[in-house]
Amino acid sequence: MSDVNEREIKKLPTLRGKTVVNLFFEDSTRTRISFELAAKRLSADVINFAAKGSSVSKGESLKDTAQTLEAMGADAIVLRHGSSGSAHRLAHSGWVQSAVINAGDGSHEHPTQALLDAMTIRQALLIHPMGKDLSGKKVLIVGDISHSRVARSNLILLRALGAIVATCGPATLVPRSLEPNGGIYYSLDRAIEEFAPDAVLMLRIQSERMEASFFPTEREYSRVWGMNSARLSRLGDAAIVLHPGPMNRGLEIDAASADSSKSRILDQVQNGVAVRMAVLFHLLAGEKEGTR
Ligand code: CP
Repeated sequence: MSDVNEREIKKLPTLRGKTVVNLFFEDSTRTRISFELAAKRLSADVINFAAKGSSVSKGESLKDTAQTLEAMGADAIVLRHGSSGSAHRLAHSGWVQSAVINAGDGSHEHPTQALLDAMTIRQALLIHPMGKDLSGKKVLIVGDISHSRVARSNLILLRALGAIVATCGPATLVPRSLEPNGGIYYSLDRAIEEFAPDAVLMLRIQSERMEASFFPTEREYSRVWGMNSARLSRLGDAAIVLHPGPMNRGLEIDAASADSSKSRILDQVQNGVAVRMAVLFHLLAGEKEGTR
């Protein structure tokens, strides 16, 4: 799929006649647009649904909304929702027969983000995207782990691929229950020095999911846990920095780091289209059995 995106005509006829519905109850730039682009590049029809401006504001439920869209011919529903477990519920409730893809559910999971992150790390560390694994590679996930679906999906996937994954952040935002195989650090300086990561995944501070104060001030957070030029210079020569976006520049990552040669943030965005094409292809062009 990545190769298709390099061609002059970035289009395959594979999903002609199929309909993909982007069902987004939360805001999104990257995920929604890349799923739309992915579906269009596979020649599927796409319907974009945003809860804002829809009958959800009149009280319509997820079940009724999804069934309404399926009645119009949806073959796949790409769901982003603020409630953890919503995608699982829709996929396994029997409410719809369409394939259901989790595009981020609350603080729970964001599987396609983890897939594109793993692809980006493999590319950057010169492991073939379809190569064997990330055995022994060290990935440091930094920041608001508690509220991060990106962190949870990456912990599952990167460990499955053999990576050593450590978490880092303020004690108030780094749950011990996730038990990362590379350990937990409460200081980014110490994590860089002792863990010596091959890849550092900076996370967004998710203020919208916070009902309390988890760190003293933004300035303090940025000073202790933010990626900046000084920390960047202490990473290994081949080490890379990732961020799922959207970034709070100046808070979890400064502009110099985000725009540096070590940054793979735009590669992540680019790979997101290819990964989502692959997911749609797998679900809609393959066998029906076992596609959920
Ligand atoms: N990474 C990510 O999920 O970004 P969006 O919220 O813009 O989709």
